[in-house]
Amino acid sequence: VSLRPYNTFGMDVQARYFAPFASLQQLQELTQDARWQSLPAMILGGGSNILFTGDFNGLVLKNELKGITVLREDDQYIYVKAGAGENWHQFVMDCIAHNRAGLENLSLIPGNVGASPMQNIGAYGVEIKDYFHELEAWHLQDHTTVTFNNEDCAFGYRESVFKRQYKGQFVILSVTYRLRKKPLFNTSYGAIEEELKKMGIQELSIKAVSQAVINIRSSKLPDPAEIGNAGSFFKNPTITAAQFETLHSQHSNIVAYPVAGGHYKLAAGWLIEQCGWKGYRSGDAGVHARQSLVLVNYGHASGQEVYQLSQQVLDSVHEKFGVELEREVNIV
Ligand code: FAD
Ligand code: EPU
Repeated sequence: VSLRPYNTFGMDVQARYFAPFASLQQLQELTQDARWQSLPAMILGGGSNILFTGDFNGLVLKNELKGITVLREDDQYIYVKAGAGENWHQFVMDCIAHNRAGLENLSLIPGNVGASPMQNIGAYGVEIKDYFHELEAWHLQDHTTVTFNNEDCAFGYRESVFKRQYKGQFVILSVTYRLRKKPLFNTSYGAIEEELKKMGIQELSIKAVSQAVINIRSSKLPDPAEIGNAGSFFKNPTITAAQFETLHSQHSNIVAYPVAGGHYKLAAGWLIEQCGWKGYRSGDAGVHARQSLVLVNYGHASGQEVYQLSQQVLDSVHEKFGVELEREVNIV
């Protein structure tokens, strides 16, 4: 089966076996089937954070668990459970339509609900961990369902236990979010304030914040339907205050934000742009012209070509700034 329609980089690779599942029972039957006991298995959501560098000689399980239900509510919060196969942006839009606040800054992030805890998706000052309540996951070897609360997930910047020690072990089945009845607006990102002004917004609402985020994102991030990509290819690196002082003295316009522990987070996009990569293209692999942190496939680039380009970018940033970038995209 060609995985081309199932990954936003548009890599034309083959999966030996491919099976969608829309219920836990179907998943159980598939994982217990003798035909693929000895083969590797992987879970696929929207395929928007994966770079396939070759064919997958195993079973790709496509998550299609659906459903959005309210579990309970109190004075302040409403607990909403969503099937892992629900589209993330549609889930956010559904929350906004019902006046459930919290996820509006995360509008228009591609992919599915089930992948949202994998790397604790974040944008414009909010991460899912701020509103995450719990999730249910199926253990592929033990065949048991386990509940993880916020602490169990050990969320960090683009990190969770599912990307680290439990990598490849669990299938996330559903995620429950604890949303606010009364919004707590987060417009700390300068670009949001600017956009709201441009939109002529007088009174803040979660719908207005969502629209501002949608406008900003559409202006700089490539639409995977037009140009293959998986969003930011690298993480923004964190460095010590001493490292920052040294870099700042050499590059006075370096883009950095102070973070916890007296450290600094650098804008990787700036570092990459300074190395001259912005808009670079070799064959069909390239660095996006409006956002250097995004590597792109203009059509027929191979996963290997994009991976090699990412290595060249990594090496040049290291050479010029002495900073080690880390890939954010899952490499398969
Ligand atoms: P996939 O790509 O299908 O999977 C990602 C990983 O999670 C894989 O390792 C997969 O095996 C695993 N996985 C998926 N579903 C499950 C499951 N149910 N159980 C267990 N494992 C699972 N991310 C951000 O954080 N912030 C952004 O602002 C952002 N912007 C983006 C913009 C663009 C244009 C694009 C293309 C991507 C962007 N991303 C961003 C990355 C991506 O949207 C997120 O990482 C998203 O959560 C991926 O969801 P998915 O369903 O496509 O996951
Ligand atoms: N910049 C440049 N040149 C570039 C790109 C960026 O100089 O080519 C500088 C600019 O100064 C800009 C700053 O970097 O102001 C930050 O850029 P941007 O606001 O676009 O955000 P980012 O740090 O590049 C991060 C996330 C995005 C998320 C946005 C908004 C990471 C790895 N990426 O990008 O997430 O949408 O912030 O919050 O943290 C993703 O994870 O896939 C993703 C798209």
